[in-house]
Amino acid sequence: MPKPLIVANWKMNGSLEGLKDFFEKLDLREYAEAVVLPPAVYIRDCISAIGNRALAVGIQNIWTEDAGAFTGEISAKMARDIGAYWALVGHSERRQLQKESDELVKQKLECSLKAGMNVIVCVGETLEERLSGQAESVVSKQLKKVLAIDLTKIQNEVVIAYEPIWAIGSGESATLEEVKEMHAFIRNVLLGVLGTLGANVRILYGGSVTAENSADLIKQDHVNGLLVGGASLKADSFSLILNALD
Ligand code: 13P
Repeated sequence: MPKPLIVANWKMNGSLEGLKDFFEKLDLREYAEAVVLPPAVYIRDCISAIGNRALAVGIQNIWTEDAGAFTGEISAKMARDIGAYWALVGHSERRQLQKESDELVKQKLECSLKAGMNVIVCVGETLEERLSGQAESVVSKQLKKVLAIDLTKIQNEVVIAYEPIWAIGSGESATLEEVKEMHAFIRNVLLGVLGTLGANVRILYGGSVTAENSADLIKQDHVNGLLVGGASLKADSFSLILNALD
């Protein structure tokens, strides 16, 4: 496995002034591969502020066509054109607020790969689903539907992010036991769906990751990185997470 992948999902936060300050203060070292997903309007500014440092920029959402009459949307091809190398698809906020289906997420995955981007596919269950014992079946269904494409000839990377919806923004991450169990389960599903390719797919954990819990989370089997929301907005906490393996 390569280095852990630590991804900052800024969601709809940040400002032009704030991002300059963020990258000036960010303490980038060699422990992890880092990606920042700013609001799309700031992608170019982030790229300039980063300069030649080892930090990639991606986009939080894309549309399923390269171009056309889709007011307000941005294609993966366009995002790639301006230097975004990663796309996030299937985030639970979009699944819930914009009613995105697994079928749409699958199309977004295909489109992003076609445009030459690496893709992070989010999966995760609601609290109700967990409490009624359906967490694994929900996640397995999401993975099987979204990954129903031929990945054998793909040059770019597909990463899975497990984000239990009940842990997002709650201040309480899943327990290490819950993370370990679900990540092992996801690995098995990936091996079933993708064959030997499934062994190399990085699986990220997301949901109330902080500077305090990141080291423990990243040390669990089959946790190959972290997807960070709130704690990625400040350079000091995100730096601590990036260097959690120091
Ligand atoms: P928080 O880290 O704020 O819980 O958000 C997680 C998330 O949704 C990242 O995509």
